[in-house]
Amino acid sequence: MVLHCSIRLQSTRRKKVPMLSDSKTRSCLYTLFIVASLFCGAYFINSTVIAKEYKDRLIRLGASETMRNKDSMRCKDDCRPSGSEHLPKGIVVETSNLEMQPLWGPIKNYKNTTPAMNLLALAVGIKQKEIVNRLVQKFPSKDFVVMLFHYDGVVDDWKNFTWSERAIHVSAVNQTKWWFAKRFLHPDIVAEYGYIFLWDEDLGVENFDPNRYLSIVQGDGLEISQPALDPVKSAVHQPITARRKRSKLHRRMYKFKGSGRCDENSTAPPCVGWVEMMAPVFSRIAWRCVWHMIQNDLIHAWGLDMLLGYCAQGDRTQKVGVVDAEYIVHLGLPTLGAGLKNQASAQS
Ligand SMILES: *[C@@H]1O[C@H](CO)[C@@H](O)[C@H](O)[C@H]1NC(C)=O
Ligand SMILES: *[C@@H]1O[C@H](CO)[C@@H](O)[C@H](O)[C@H]1NC(C)=O
Ligand SMILES: *[C@@H]1O[C@H](CO)[C@@H](O)[C@H](O)[C@H]1NC(C)=O
Repeated sequence: MVLHCSIRLQSTRRKKVPMLSDSKTRSCLYTLFIVASLFCGAYFINSTVIAKEYKDRLIRLGASETMRNKDSMRCKDDCRPSGSEHLPKGIVVETSNLEMQPLWGPIKNYKNTTPAMNLLALAVGIKQKEIVNRLVQKFPSKDFVVMLFHYDGVVDDWKNFTWSERAIHVSAVNQTKWWFAKRFLHPDIVAEYGYIFLWDEDLGVENFDPNRYLSIVQGDGLEISQPALDPVKSAVHQPITARRKRSKLHRRMYKFKGSGRCDENSTAPPCVGWVEMMAPVFSRIAWRCVWHMIQNDLIHAWGLDMLLGYCAQGDRTQKVGVVDAEYIVHLGLPTLGAGLKNQASAQS
């Protein structure tokens, strides 16, 4: 229809123009024609664009609607993880855990007996053997599965610690905690663990009790947390992580001078909703989110800390916090990439 309009206009112009004798009328008509055809053209272009967009949207809507219908139809039958479609019903399990099974004899039926277990995952090098030993011994074996990520490739030298046998050892040379976590802590594998401690190795735990820590975190609804750092003995990089005496936990910090001020109205990290990547503790549901946020090529996780709020399962000013009552010492020892880290922080 629109197309007709412009064609007709053009043909009238062609026919009529030679017949007109008065030049004034002619130029007037001419202007009119131009204006009219401009309008026509604009309308034409506009309507095609709109029509196309609308059509696209309709198609998309239709497609997603059919997909959704199909999905829900299929899900009504049985909604299965991709790749398991050909397996008989009932044999597909979506999650696993890090439980070791005996070679012989009855298999532990953890489904019926499982206590709420948590996971301690540490990136370790043999040089920090003694510190790691003290750290692991703080975590009762009945409540925690221990996983060691060996970034120096040394595994055998850990064997003479009694807890070493029940730990899961993963070794890959010169890889960071985040590299290991992305590859070996898939949310479906660690789905049974209530809380995941993803810690560095250079932490002193004399004043830290994991179960007391967890009862605070649970009681106060922290999905992402860290123990506070002893400000006297620790290398404190961020004031929000420093321990406050006579406090159970805190969620924000105050800074009234200089740049980057923080007050009670601040809503963004690092004033509030922020923990450091050295000793984070994630709830199961927060970890599922964080795991997805860890990009495949993430190495040191600088910057990830600022984004953790996305995984707080709601208000990050409430669900992210630092626990003062159970605190640790950041020893600041040279560990994997420590030289690099200093260089980078000097630059920034
Ligand atoms: C482990 O072995 C090292 C050297 O072989 C020894 O010095 C250390 O005391 C042993 N530790 C334990 C807990 O057995
Ligand atoms: C690991 O890193 C160290 C120190 O940067 C380096 O000397 C060594 O060659 C690296 N090893 C591998 C296998 O990349
Ligand atoms: C915080 O917000 C309240 C209410 O808007 C205001 O009265 C108060 O002065 C603010 N505090 C600061 C430190 O800006």
